[in-house]
Amino acid sequence: MSKPVGIVTGAGSGIGLAVATHLVSKGYRVVIAELNPTTGAQAASSLGSSDDALFVQTDVASYSSQARLFKQAYEWGGNRLDFCHANAGIDDRQMLYDVEDKEEEELDADGLVKPLNTKSMQVNLEAVIQGLWLFKHYVRRSKAAGGGKGKFVATASAAGLYVMTTNPQYTASKYGVVGFTRAAGPVLVNEGITVNCICPGFIPTNLCPPEILKVWPEEHMTPLSTALKAMDAFLDDDTMSGQTVELSQDKIYFREMVDWVNESQKWIGTESLSIWEEAYAKVPEKAGY
Ligand SMILES: NC(=O)c1ccc[n+]([C@@H]2O[C@H](COP(=O)([O-])OP(=O)(O)OC[C@H]3O[C@@H](n4cnc5c(N)ncnc54)[C@H](O)[C@@H]3O)[C@@H](O)[C@H]2O)c1
Repeated sequence: MSKPVGIVTGAGSGIGLAVATHLVSKGYRVVIAELNPTTGAQAASSLGSSDDALFVQTDVASYSSQARLFKQAYEWGGNRLDFCHANAGIDDRQMLYDVEDKEEEELDADGLVKPLNTKSMQVNLEAVIQGLWLFKHYVRRSKAAGGGKGKFVATASAAGLYVMTTNPQYTASKYGVVGFTRAAGPVLVNEGITVNCICPGFIPTNLCPPEILKVWPEEHMTPLSTALKAMDAFLDDDTMSGQTVELSQDKIYFREMVDWVNESQKWIGTESLSIWEEAYAKVPEKAGY
């Protein structure tokens, strides 16, 4: 039987590289999907032979780049795909609250305010949503090659549970990943695709500026090994789906959605789902909005 095949995005560094290495040690063939051609190629060659790991230069913020990645991974894997870690992420590239209002820099040629840079939303959230969309397509077509069940893990952040006032767009993107996981996970598990996410605390990686790493107290760091504990929990369980797992220090914590505020909200969030489904079934053109 052929080996299972996984994609890890942002696997040239940090959490993605650790997860890719872990998967190879567990018998997976892994595709390193990375924007940086140097670290991506290095990561793939550090993982063993070209049969174990393949580097595909990818910009997850571009749908066509991700679509090509998934096709190439599926074909390299012998027409199967079993795992995806949608992990690539960046912090905010423009501060929402500028220190001073630089009017001439904020206006375009027509005198209109230029949009805020929301690249972190594209990389951290939009790419995760499109990633699951692509993953589902290929998992469904993996049965003949021995697959057909899938595990999708997204990297959110503790900023997706609390807030990071220094990075508001980033915070919004990570809340989005948590919500997306909780909505899609309980549904896709019915066809054998589990969807979970991790919410790391502070892990010393290249995401953090070196000035921060120099001053950050060690007791408030989370080691990469904690991310692998969560990964093992997902890999070992074919039914766990929709879970949000916070990583702090050496522990993993399964975090629940906020409590229902009253019985009415609970009814809307649970019992009313069949009403929505029936109504949507009658208006299929809704998909065209
Ligand atoms: N390190 C932490 O403390 C921490 C905490 C919470 C969440 N996270 C999340 O963990 C994930 C991984 O980050 P990390 O800490 O390992 O950082 P990292 O910078 O070491 O790794 C991120 C990798 O993603 C790649 N990347 C960036 N944009 C990309 C794109 N458009 N397409 C493909 N690859 C791209 C980078 O080149 C880099 O190799 C991110 O989603 C980040 O938001 C990290």
